[in-house]
Amino acid sequence: MPKIGVIGGSGLYDIPGLARLGEEAVKTPYGEPSGRYLIAGAGTVEVAFLPRHGARHDIAPHKVNYRANIWGMKSLGVERILGINAAGGIDPGLAPGSLVITDQIMDFTLGARESTFYDGKEVIHVDFTDPYCPELRGALLEAARQRGIAAVSGGTYVCTNGPRLETRAEIAFFGRAGGHVVGMTGMPEAALARELELCYSSMAVVTNAAAGVSGASRLSAREVMEMMALRMESIKKLLQAVFALIPAQRQCCCKDALKDSRL
Ligand code: HPA
Repeated sequence: MPKIGVIGGSGLYDIPGLARLGEEAVKTPYGEPSGRYLIAGAGTVEVAFLPRHGARHDIAPHKVNYRANIWGMKSLGVERILGINAAGGIDPGLAPGSLVITDQIMDFTLGARESTFYDGKEVIHVDFTDPYCPELRGALLEAARQRGIAAVSGGTYVCTNGPRLETRAEIAFFGRAGGHVVGMTGMPEAALARELELCYSSMAVVTNAAAGVSGASRLSAREVMEMMALRMESIKKLLQAVFALIPAQRQCCCKDALKDSRL
């Protein structure tokens, strides 16, 4: 049975509607994952679900053990991971509530996080030209189409270290640089999945206009959580639909990501 991993962001701590099969506590060489992995059956696939911020949301984005989370997924036999990430809209066309199946990343965490499995003797430079799996992105977009849920195809996700929100000047800069949404959790998650030759794609949920974009003089964490709660039904519907659309065998090149990456 193919195993699909789901890493839930703020507001997504469970996927109801799936047949719950159990829980797995995984030990990793990188320390503790964010919590136990919930294992559930969804038709012909098995889902391993992990809430990124912990089941009680007590792990801040800069404290998430991304390596343990991704390594844990691989050790459970997961080959493909869907990440759900709350984000601010940099592009004024992406109103709060928009769902964006991003296709590019700019990483502004700038080395502040443990962001590789290869920090020992082995020197690896994994290709990251297109950071998300094309097959999984396609499945997410098709699931949205089938369920009549509006989803934007493509967009650049800017990852900041947080936990503070950004300044107006930072957001204006990210916008000029080509960023469409900004969040604190998309990296190094995507890159770590690639290093383990796992497919990874993300759905950014725009919870607010990023700093300075809407003319508001302040942002609040409350608006983020409120918009996540408002979109939760659509997110869950979309997830339930996507599981049926993921092909049994991977045809993409994520499974061979380490080919030609060694010095
Ligand atoms: N900035 C960074 N991360 C976020 C935001 C934001 O405006 N909204 C939700 N996550």
